[in-house]
Amino acid sequence: MVRMIAIDGPVASGKTSVGLALAKRLGFLFLDTGVMYRAVAWAALKFGVNIDDEIAVSRLASELKIEIHKPSHEDGRSNDIFVNGEDVTWEIRGEKVNNSVSQVSAYREVRRVLTEQQRLFGKQGGVVMVGRDIGTVVLPDADIKIFLKASPEERAKRRFEEERARGNEIGYEEILENMKMRDRLDSSREVAPLVAAPDAVMIDTDGRTKEEVVEEIIQLALK
Ligand code: DC
Repeated sequence: MVRMIAIDGPVASGKTSVGLALAKRLGFLFLDTGVMYRAVAWAALKFGVNIDDEIAVSRLASELKIEIHKPSHEDGRSNDIFVNGEDVTWEIRGEKVNNSVSQVSAYREVRRVLTEQQRLFGKQGGVVMVGRDIGTVVLPDADIKIFLKASPEERAKRRFEEERARGNEIGYEEILENMKMRDRLDSSREVAPLVAAPDAVMIDTDGRTKEEVVEEIIQLALK
């Protein structure tokens, strides 16, 4: 029986929307691990901790209370996120966090602390977990591992439309550049870089609907 599904892939490859829909279909819990790295970056900015100071950011990560709950609204959020009791669900999606989260997520100790929490979540079973290193590091024993791909232009277009739907006036070119920079940092970092697990199934989402991709994964789960 399938208990754990790991989905990895670059920025805006469809991990969250596919993962959420899949979890709903299967009645599984869903965890977008990116929000945890975002929560640490958000807290560093909020509490004036220098992003370049690896030791200080690592200490902050180990002291933070990050809570992830089921979504309270159907407004595109994957979960409700609280940091030390404060609702940061949308704030962690802001530009400032976007620009510093890759750096924070490259710190070994930050990854160790968050990986431990993610594994605890996975132990419950009946989970879909998405991120960059779920199939390789967090849940190497996952029953199904998916690596989602899509061209940078398609991914930037999706992010642009999401931002516009939320009333944010950020330009396509800016999104594309920021995304390419994050992909570069995430793929080249020393600790748990973004790579497909050798046993992952690659799915190219270019020109395909969320429903088609979810169906393909369901078929793998039924095998
Ligand atoms: O998926 P996202 O854009 O919300 O992720 C935010 C950042 O966190 C991204 O730059 C990569 C990092 N991340 C990571 O290193 N490992 C994960 N498992 C999830 C996200």
